[in-house]
Amino acid sequence: MYKIFESSEDAAEALADLIVSRINEKPSIVLGLATGATMEPVYAALIEAHKAGRVSFAGVTSFNLDEYEGLSPRHSGSYRATMDRLLFDHVDIDKAKTHLPDGMTHDPEHEGERYERLIAEAGGIDLQLLGIGRNGHIGFNEPGSAFSSRTRLVVLEEETLKANAGFFSDRSVPERALTMGIATILDAREIAVMATGPAKADAVARALYAAPDADCPASALNGHDNVRWFLDREAAAELPDVDVRLRAAD
Ligand code: F6R
Repeated sequence: MYKIFESSEDAAEALADLIVSRINEKPSIVLGLATGATMEPVYAALIEAHKAGRVSFAGVTSFNLDEYEGLSPRHSGSYRATMDRLLFDHVDIDKAKTHLPDGMTHDPEHEGERYERLIAEAGGIDLQLLGIGRNGHIGFNEPGSAFSSRTRLVVLEEETLKANAGFFSDRSVPERALTMGIATILDAREIAVMATGPAKADAVARALYAAPDADCPASALNGHDNVRWFLDREAAAELPDVDVRLRAAD
């Protein structure tokens, strides 16, 4: 099911509202978190909600989708540092309950197994947040990833390196990362995907309307029965029936 919002700000507010409701329904919720520019306004809205007394993160456990290989948590481009900066440092979450794959591991295979075990021990993910790559990736599961894949070390595509270069002052994005697999993501009880801006329109249309295909990892989400897409008009622009839907919503 997808909903198209007038602006990316509206989509971010709506997703933040969903997260706040889910935390308030279950304060010990296990969240799956994503990084990337799409999520930044969502985390800003969550900080606002926390400051306004609408939500506490004290009982929340979190697992991020991915982390770059070879970056220490102190590197400003690491997803650990990014999550601290964008969310964790500004809310009452217990950082001991916030998890990311260990990008500094010397043993990626065991790190994947360790991460999967931690998620299982926490009771599984209640709500997984996702962005989508221009090439249809989810997490860092690039095109060609098996739908049965689990947390592992992957090589990033050139397009992903280019898209993420802006997050690095010297534009040198690590070429490999540890990511939850597609099957790990599909194990979540609920999934919320957000896509905004024209660069995502093609990937969104393929994910929602093409037959499930490893060339578009996000198309695997059609096999999950509790997925909500939060789109702005630009990201929804290539959906076949978007004009009809917008008119119906007006
Ligand atoms: C981030 C992640 C990626 C991003 C995707 C979109 O943890 O796993 O799949 O969600 O690349 O990135 P942005 O939002 O920067 O366009």
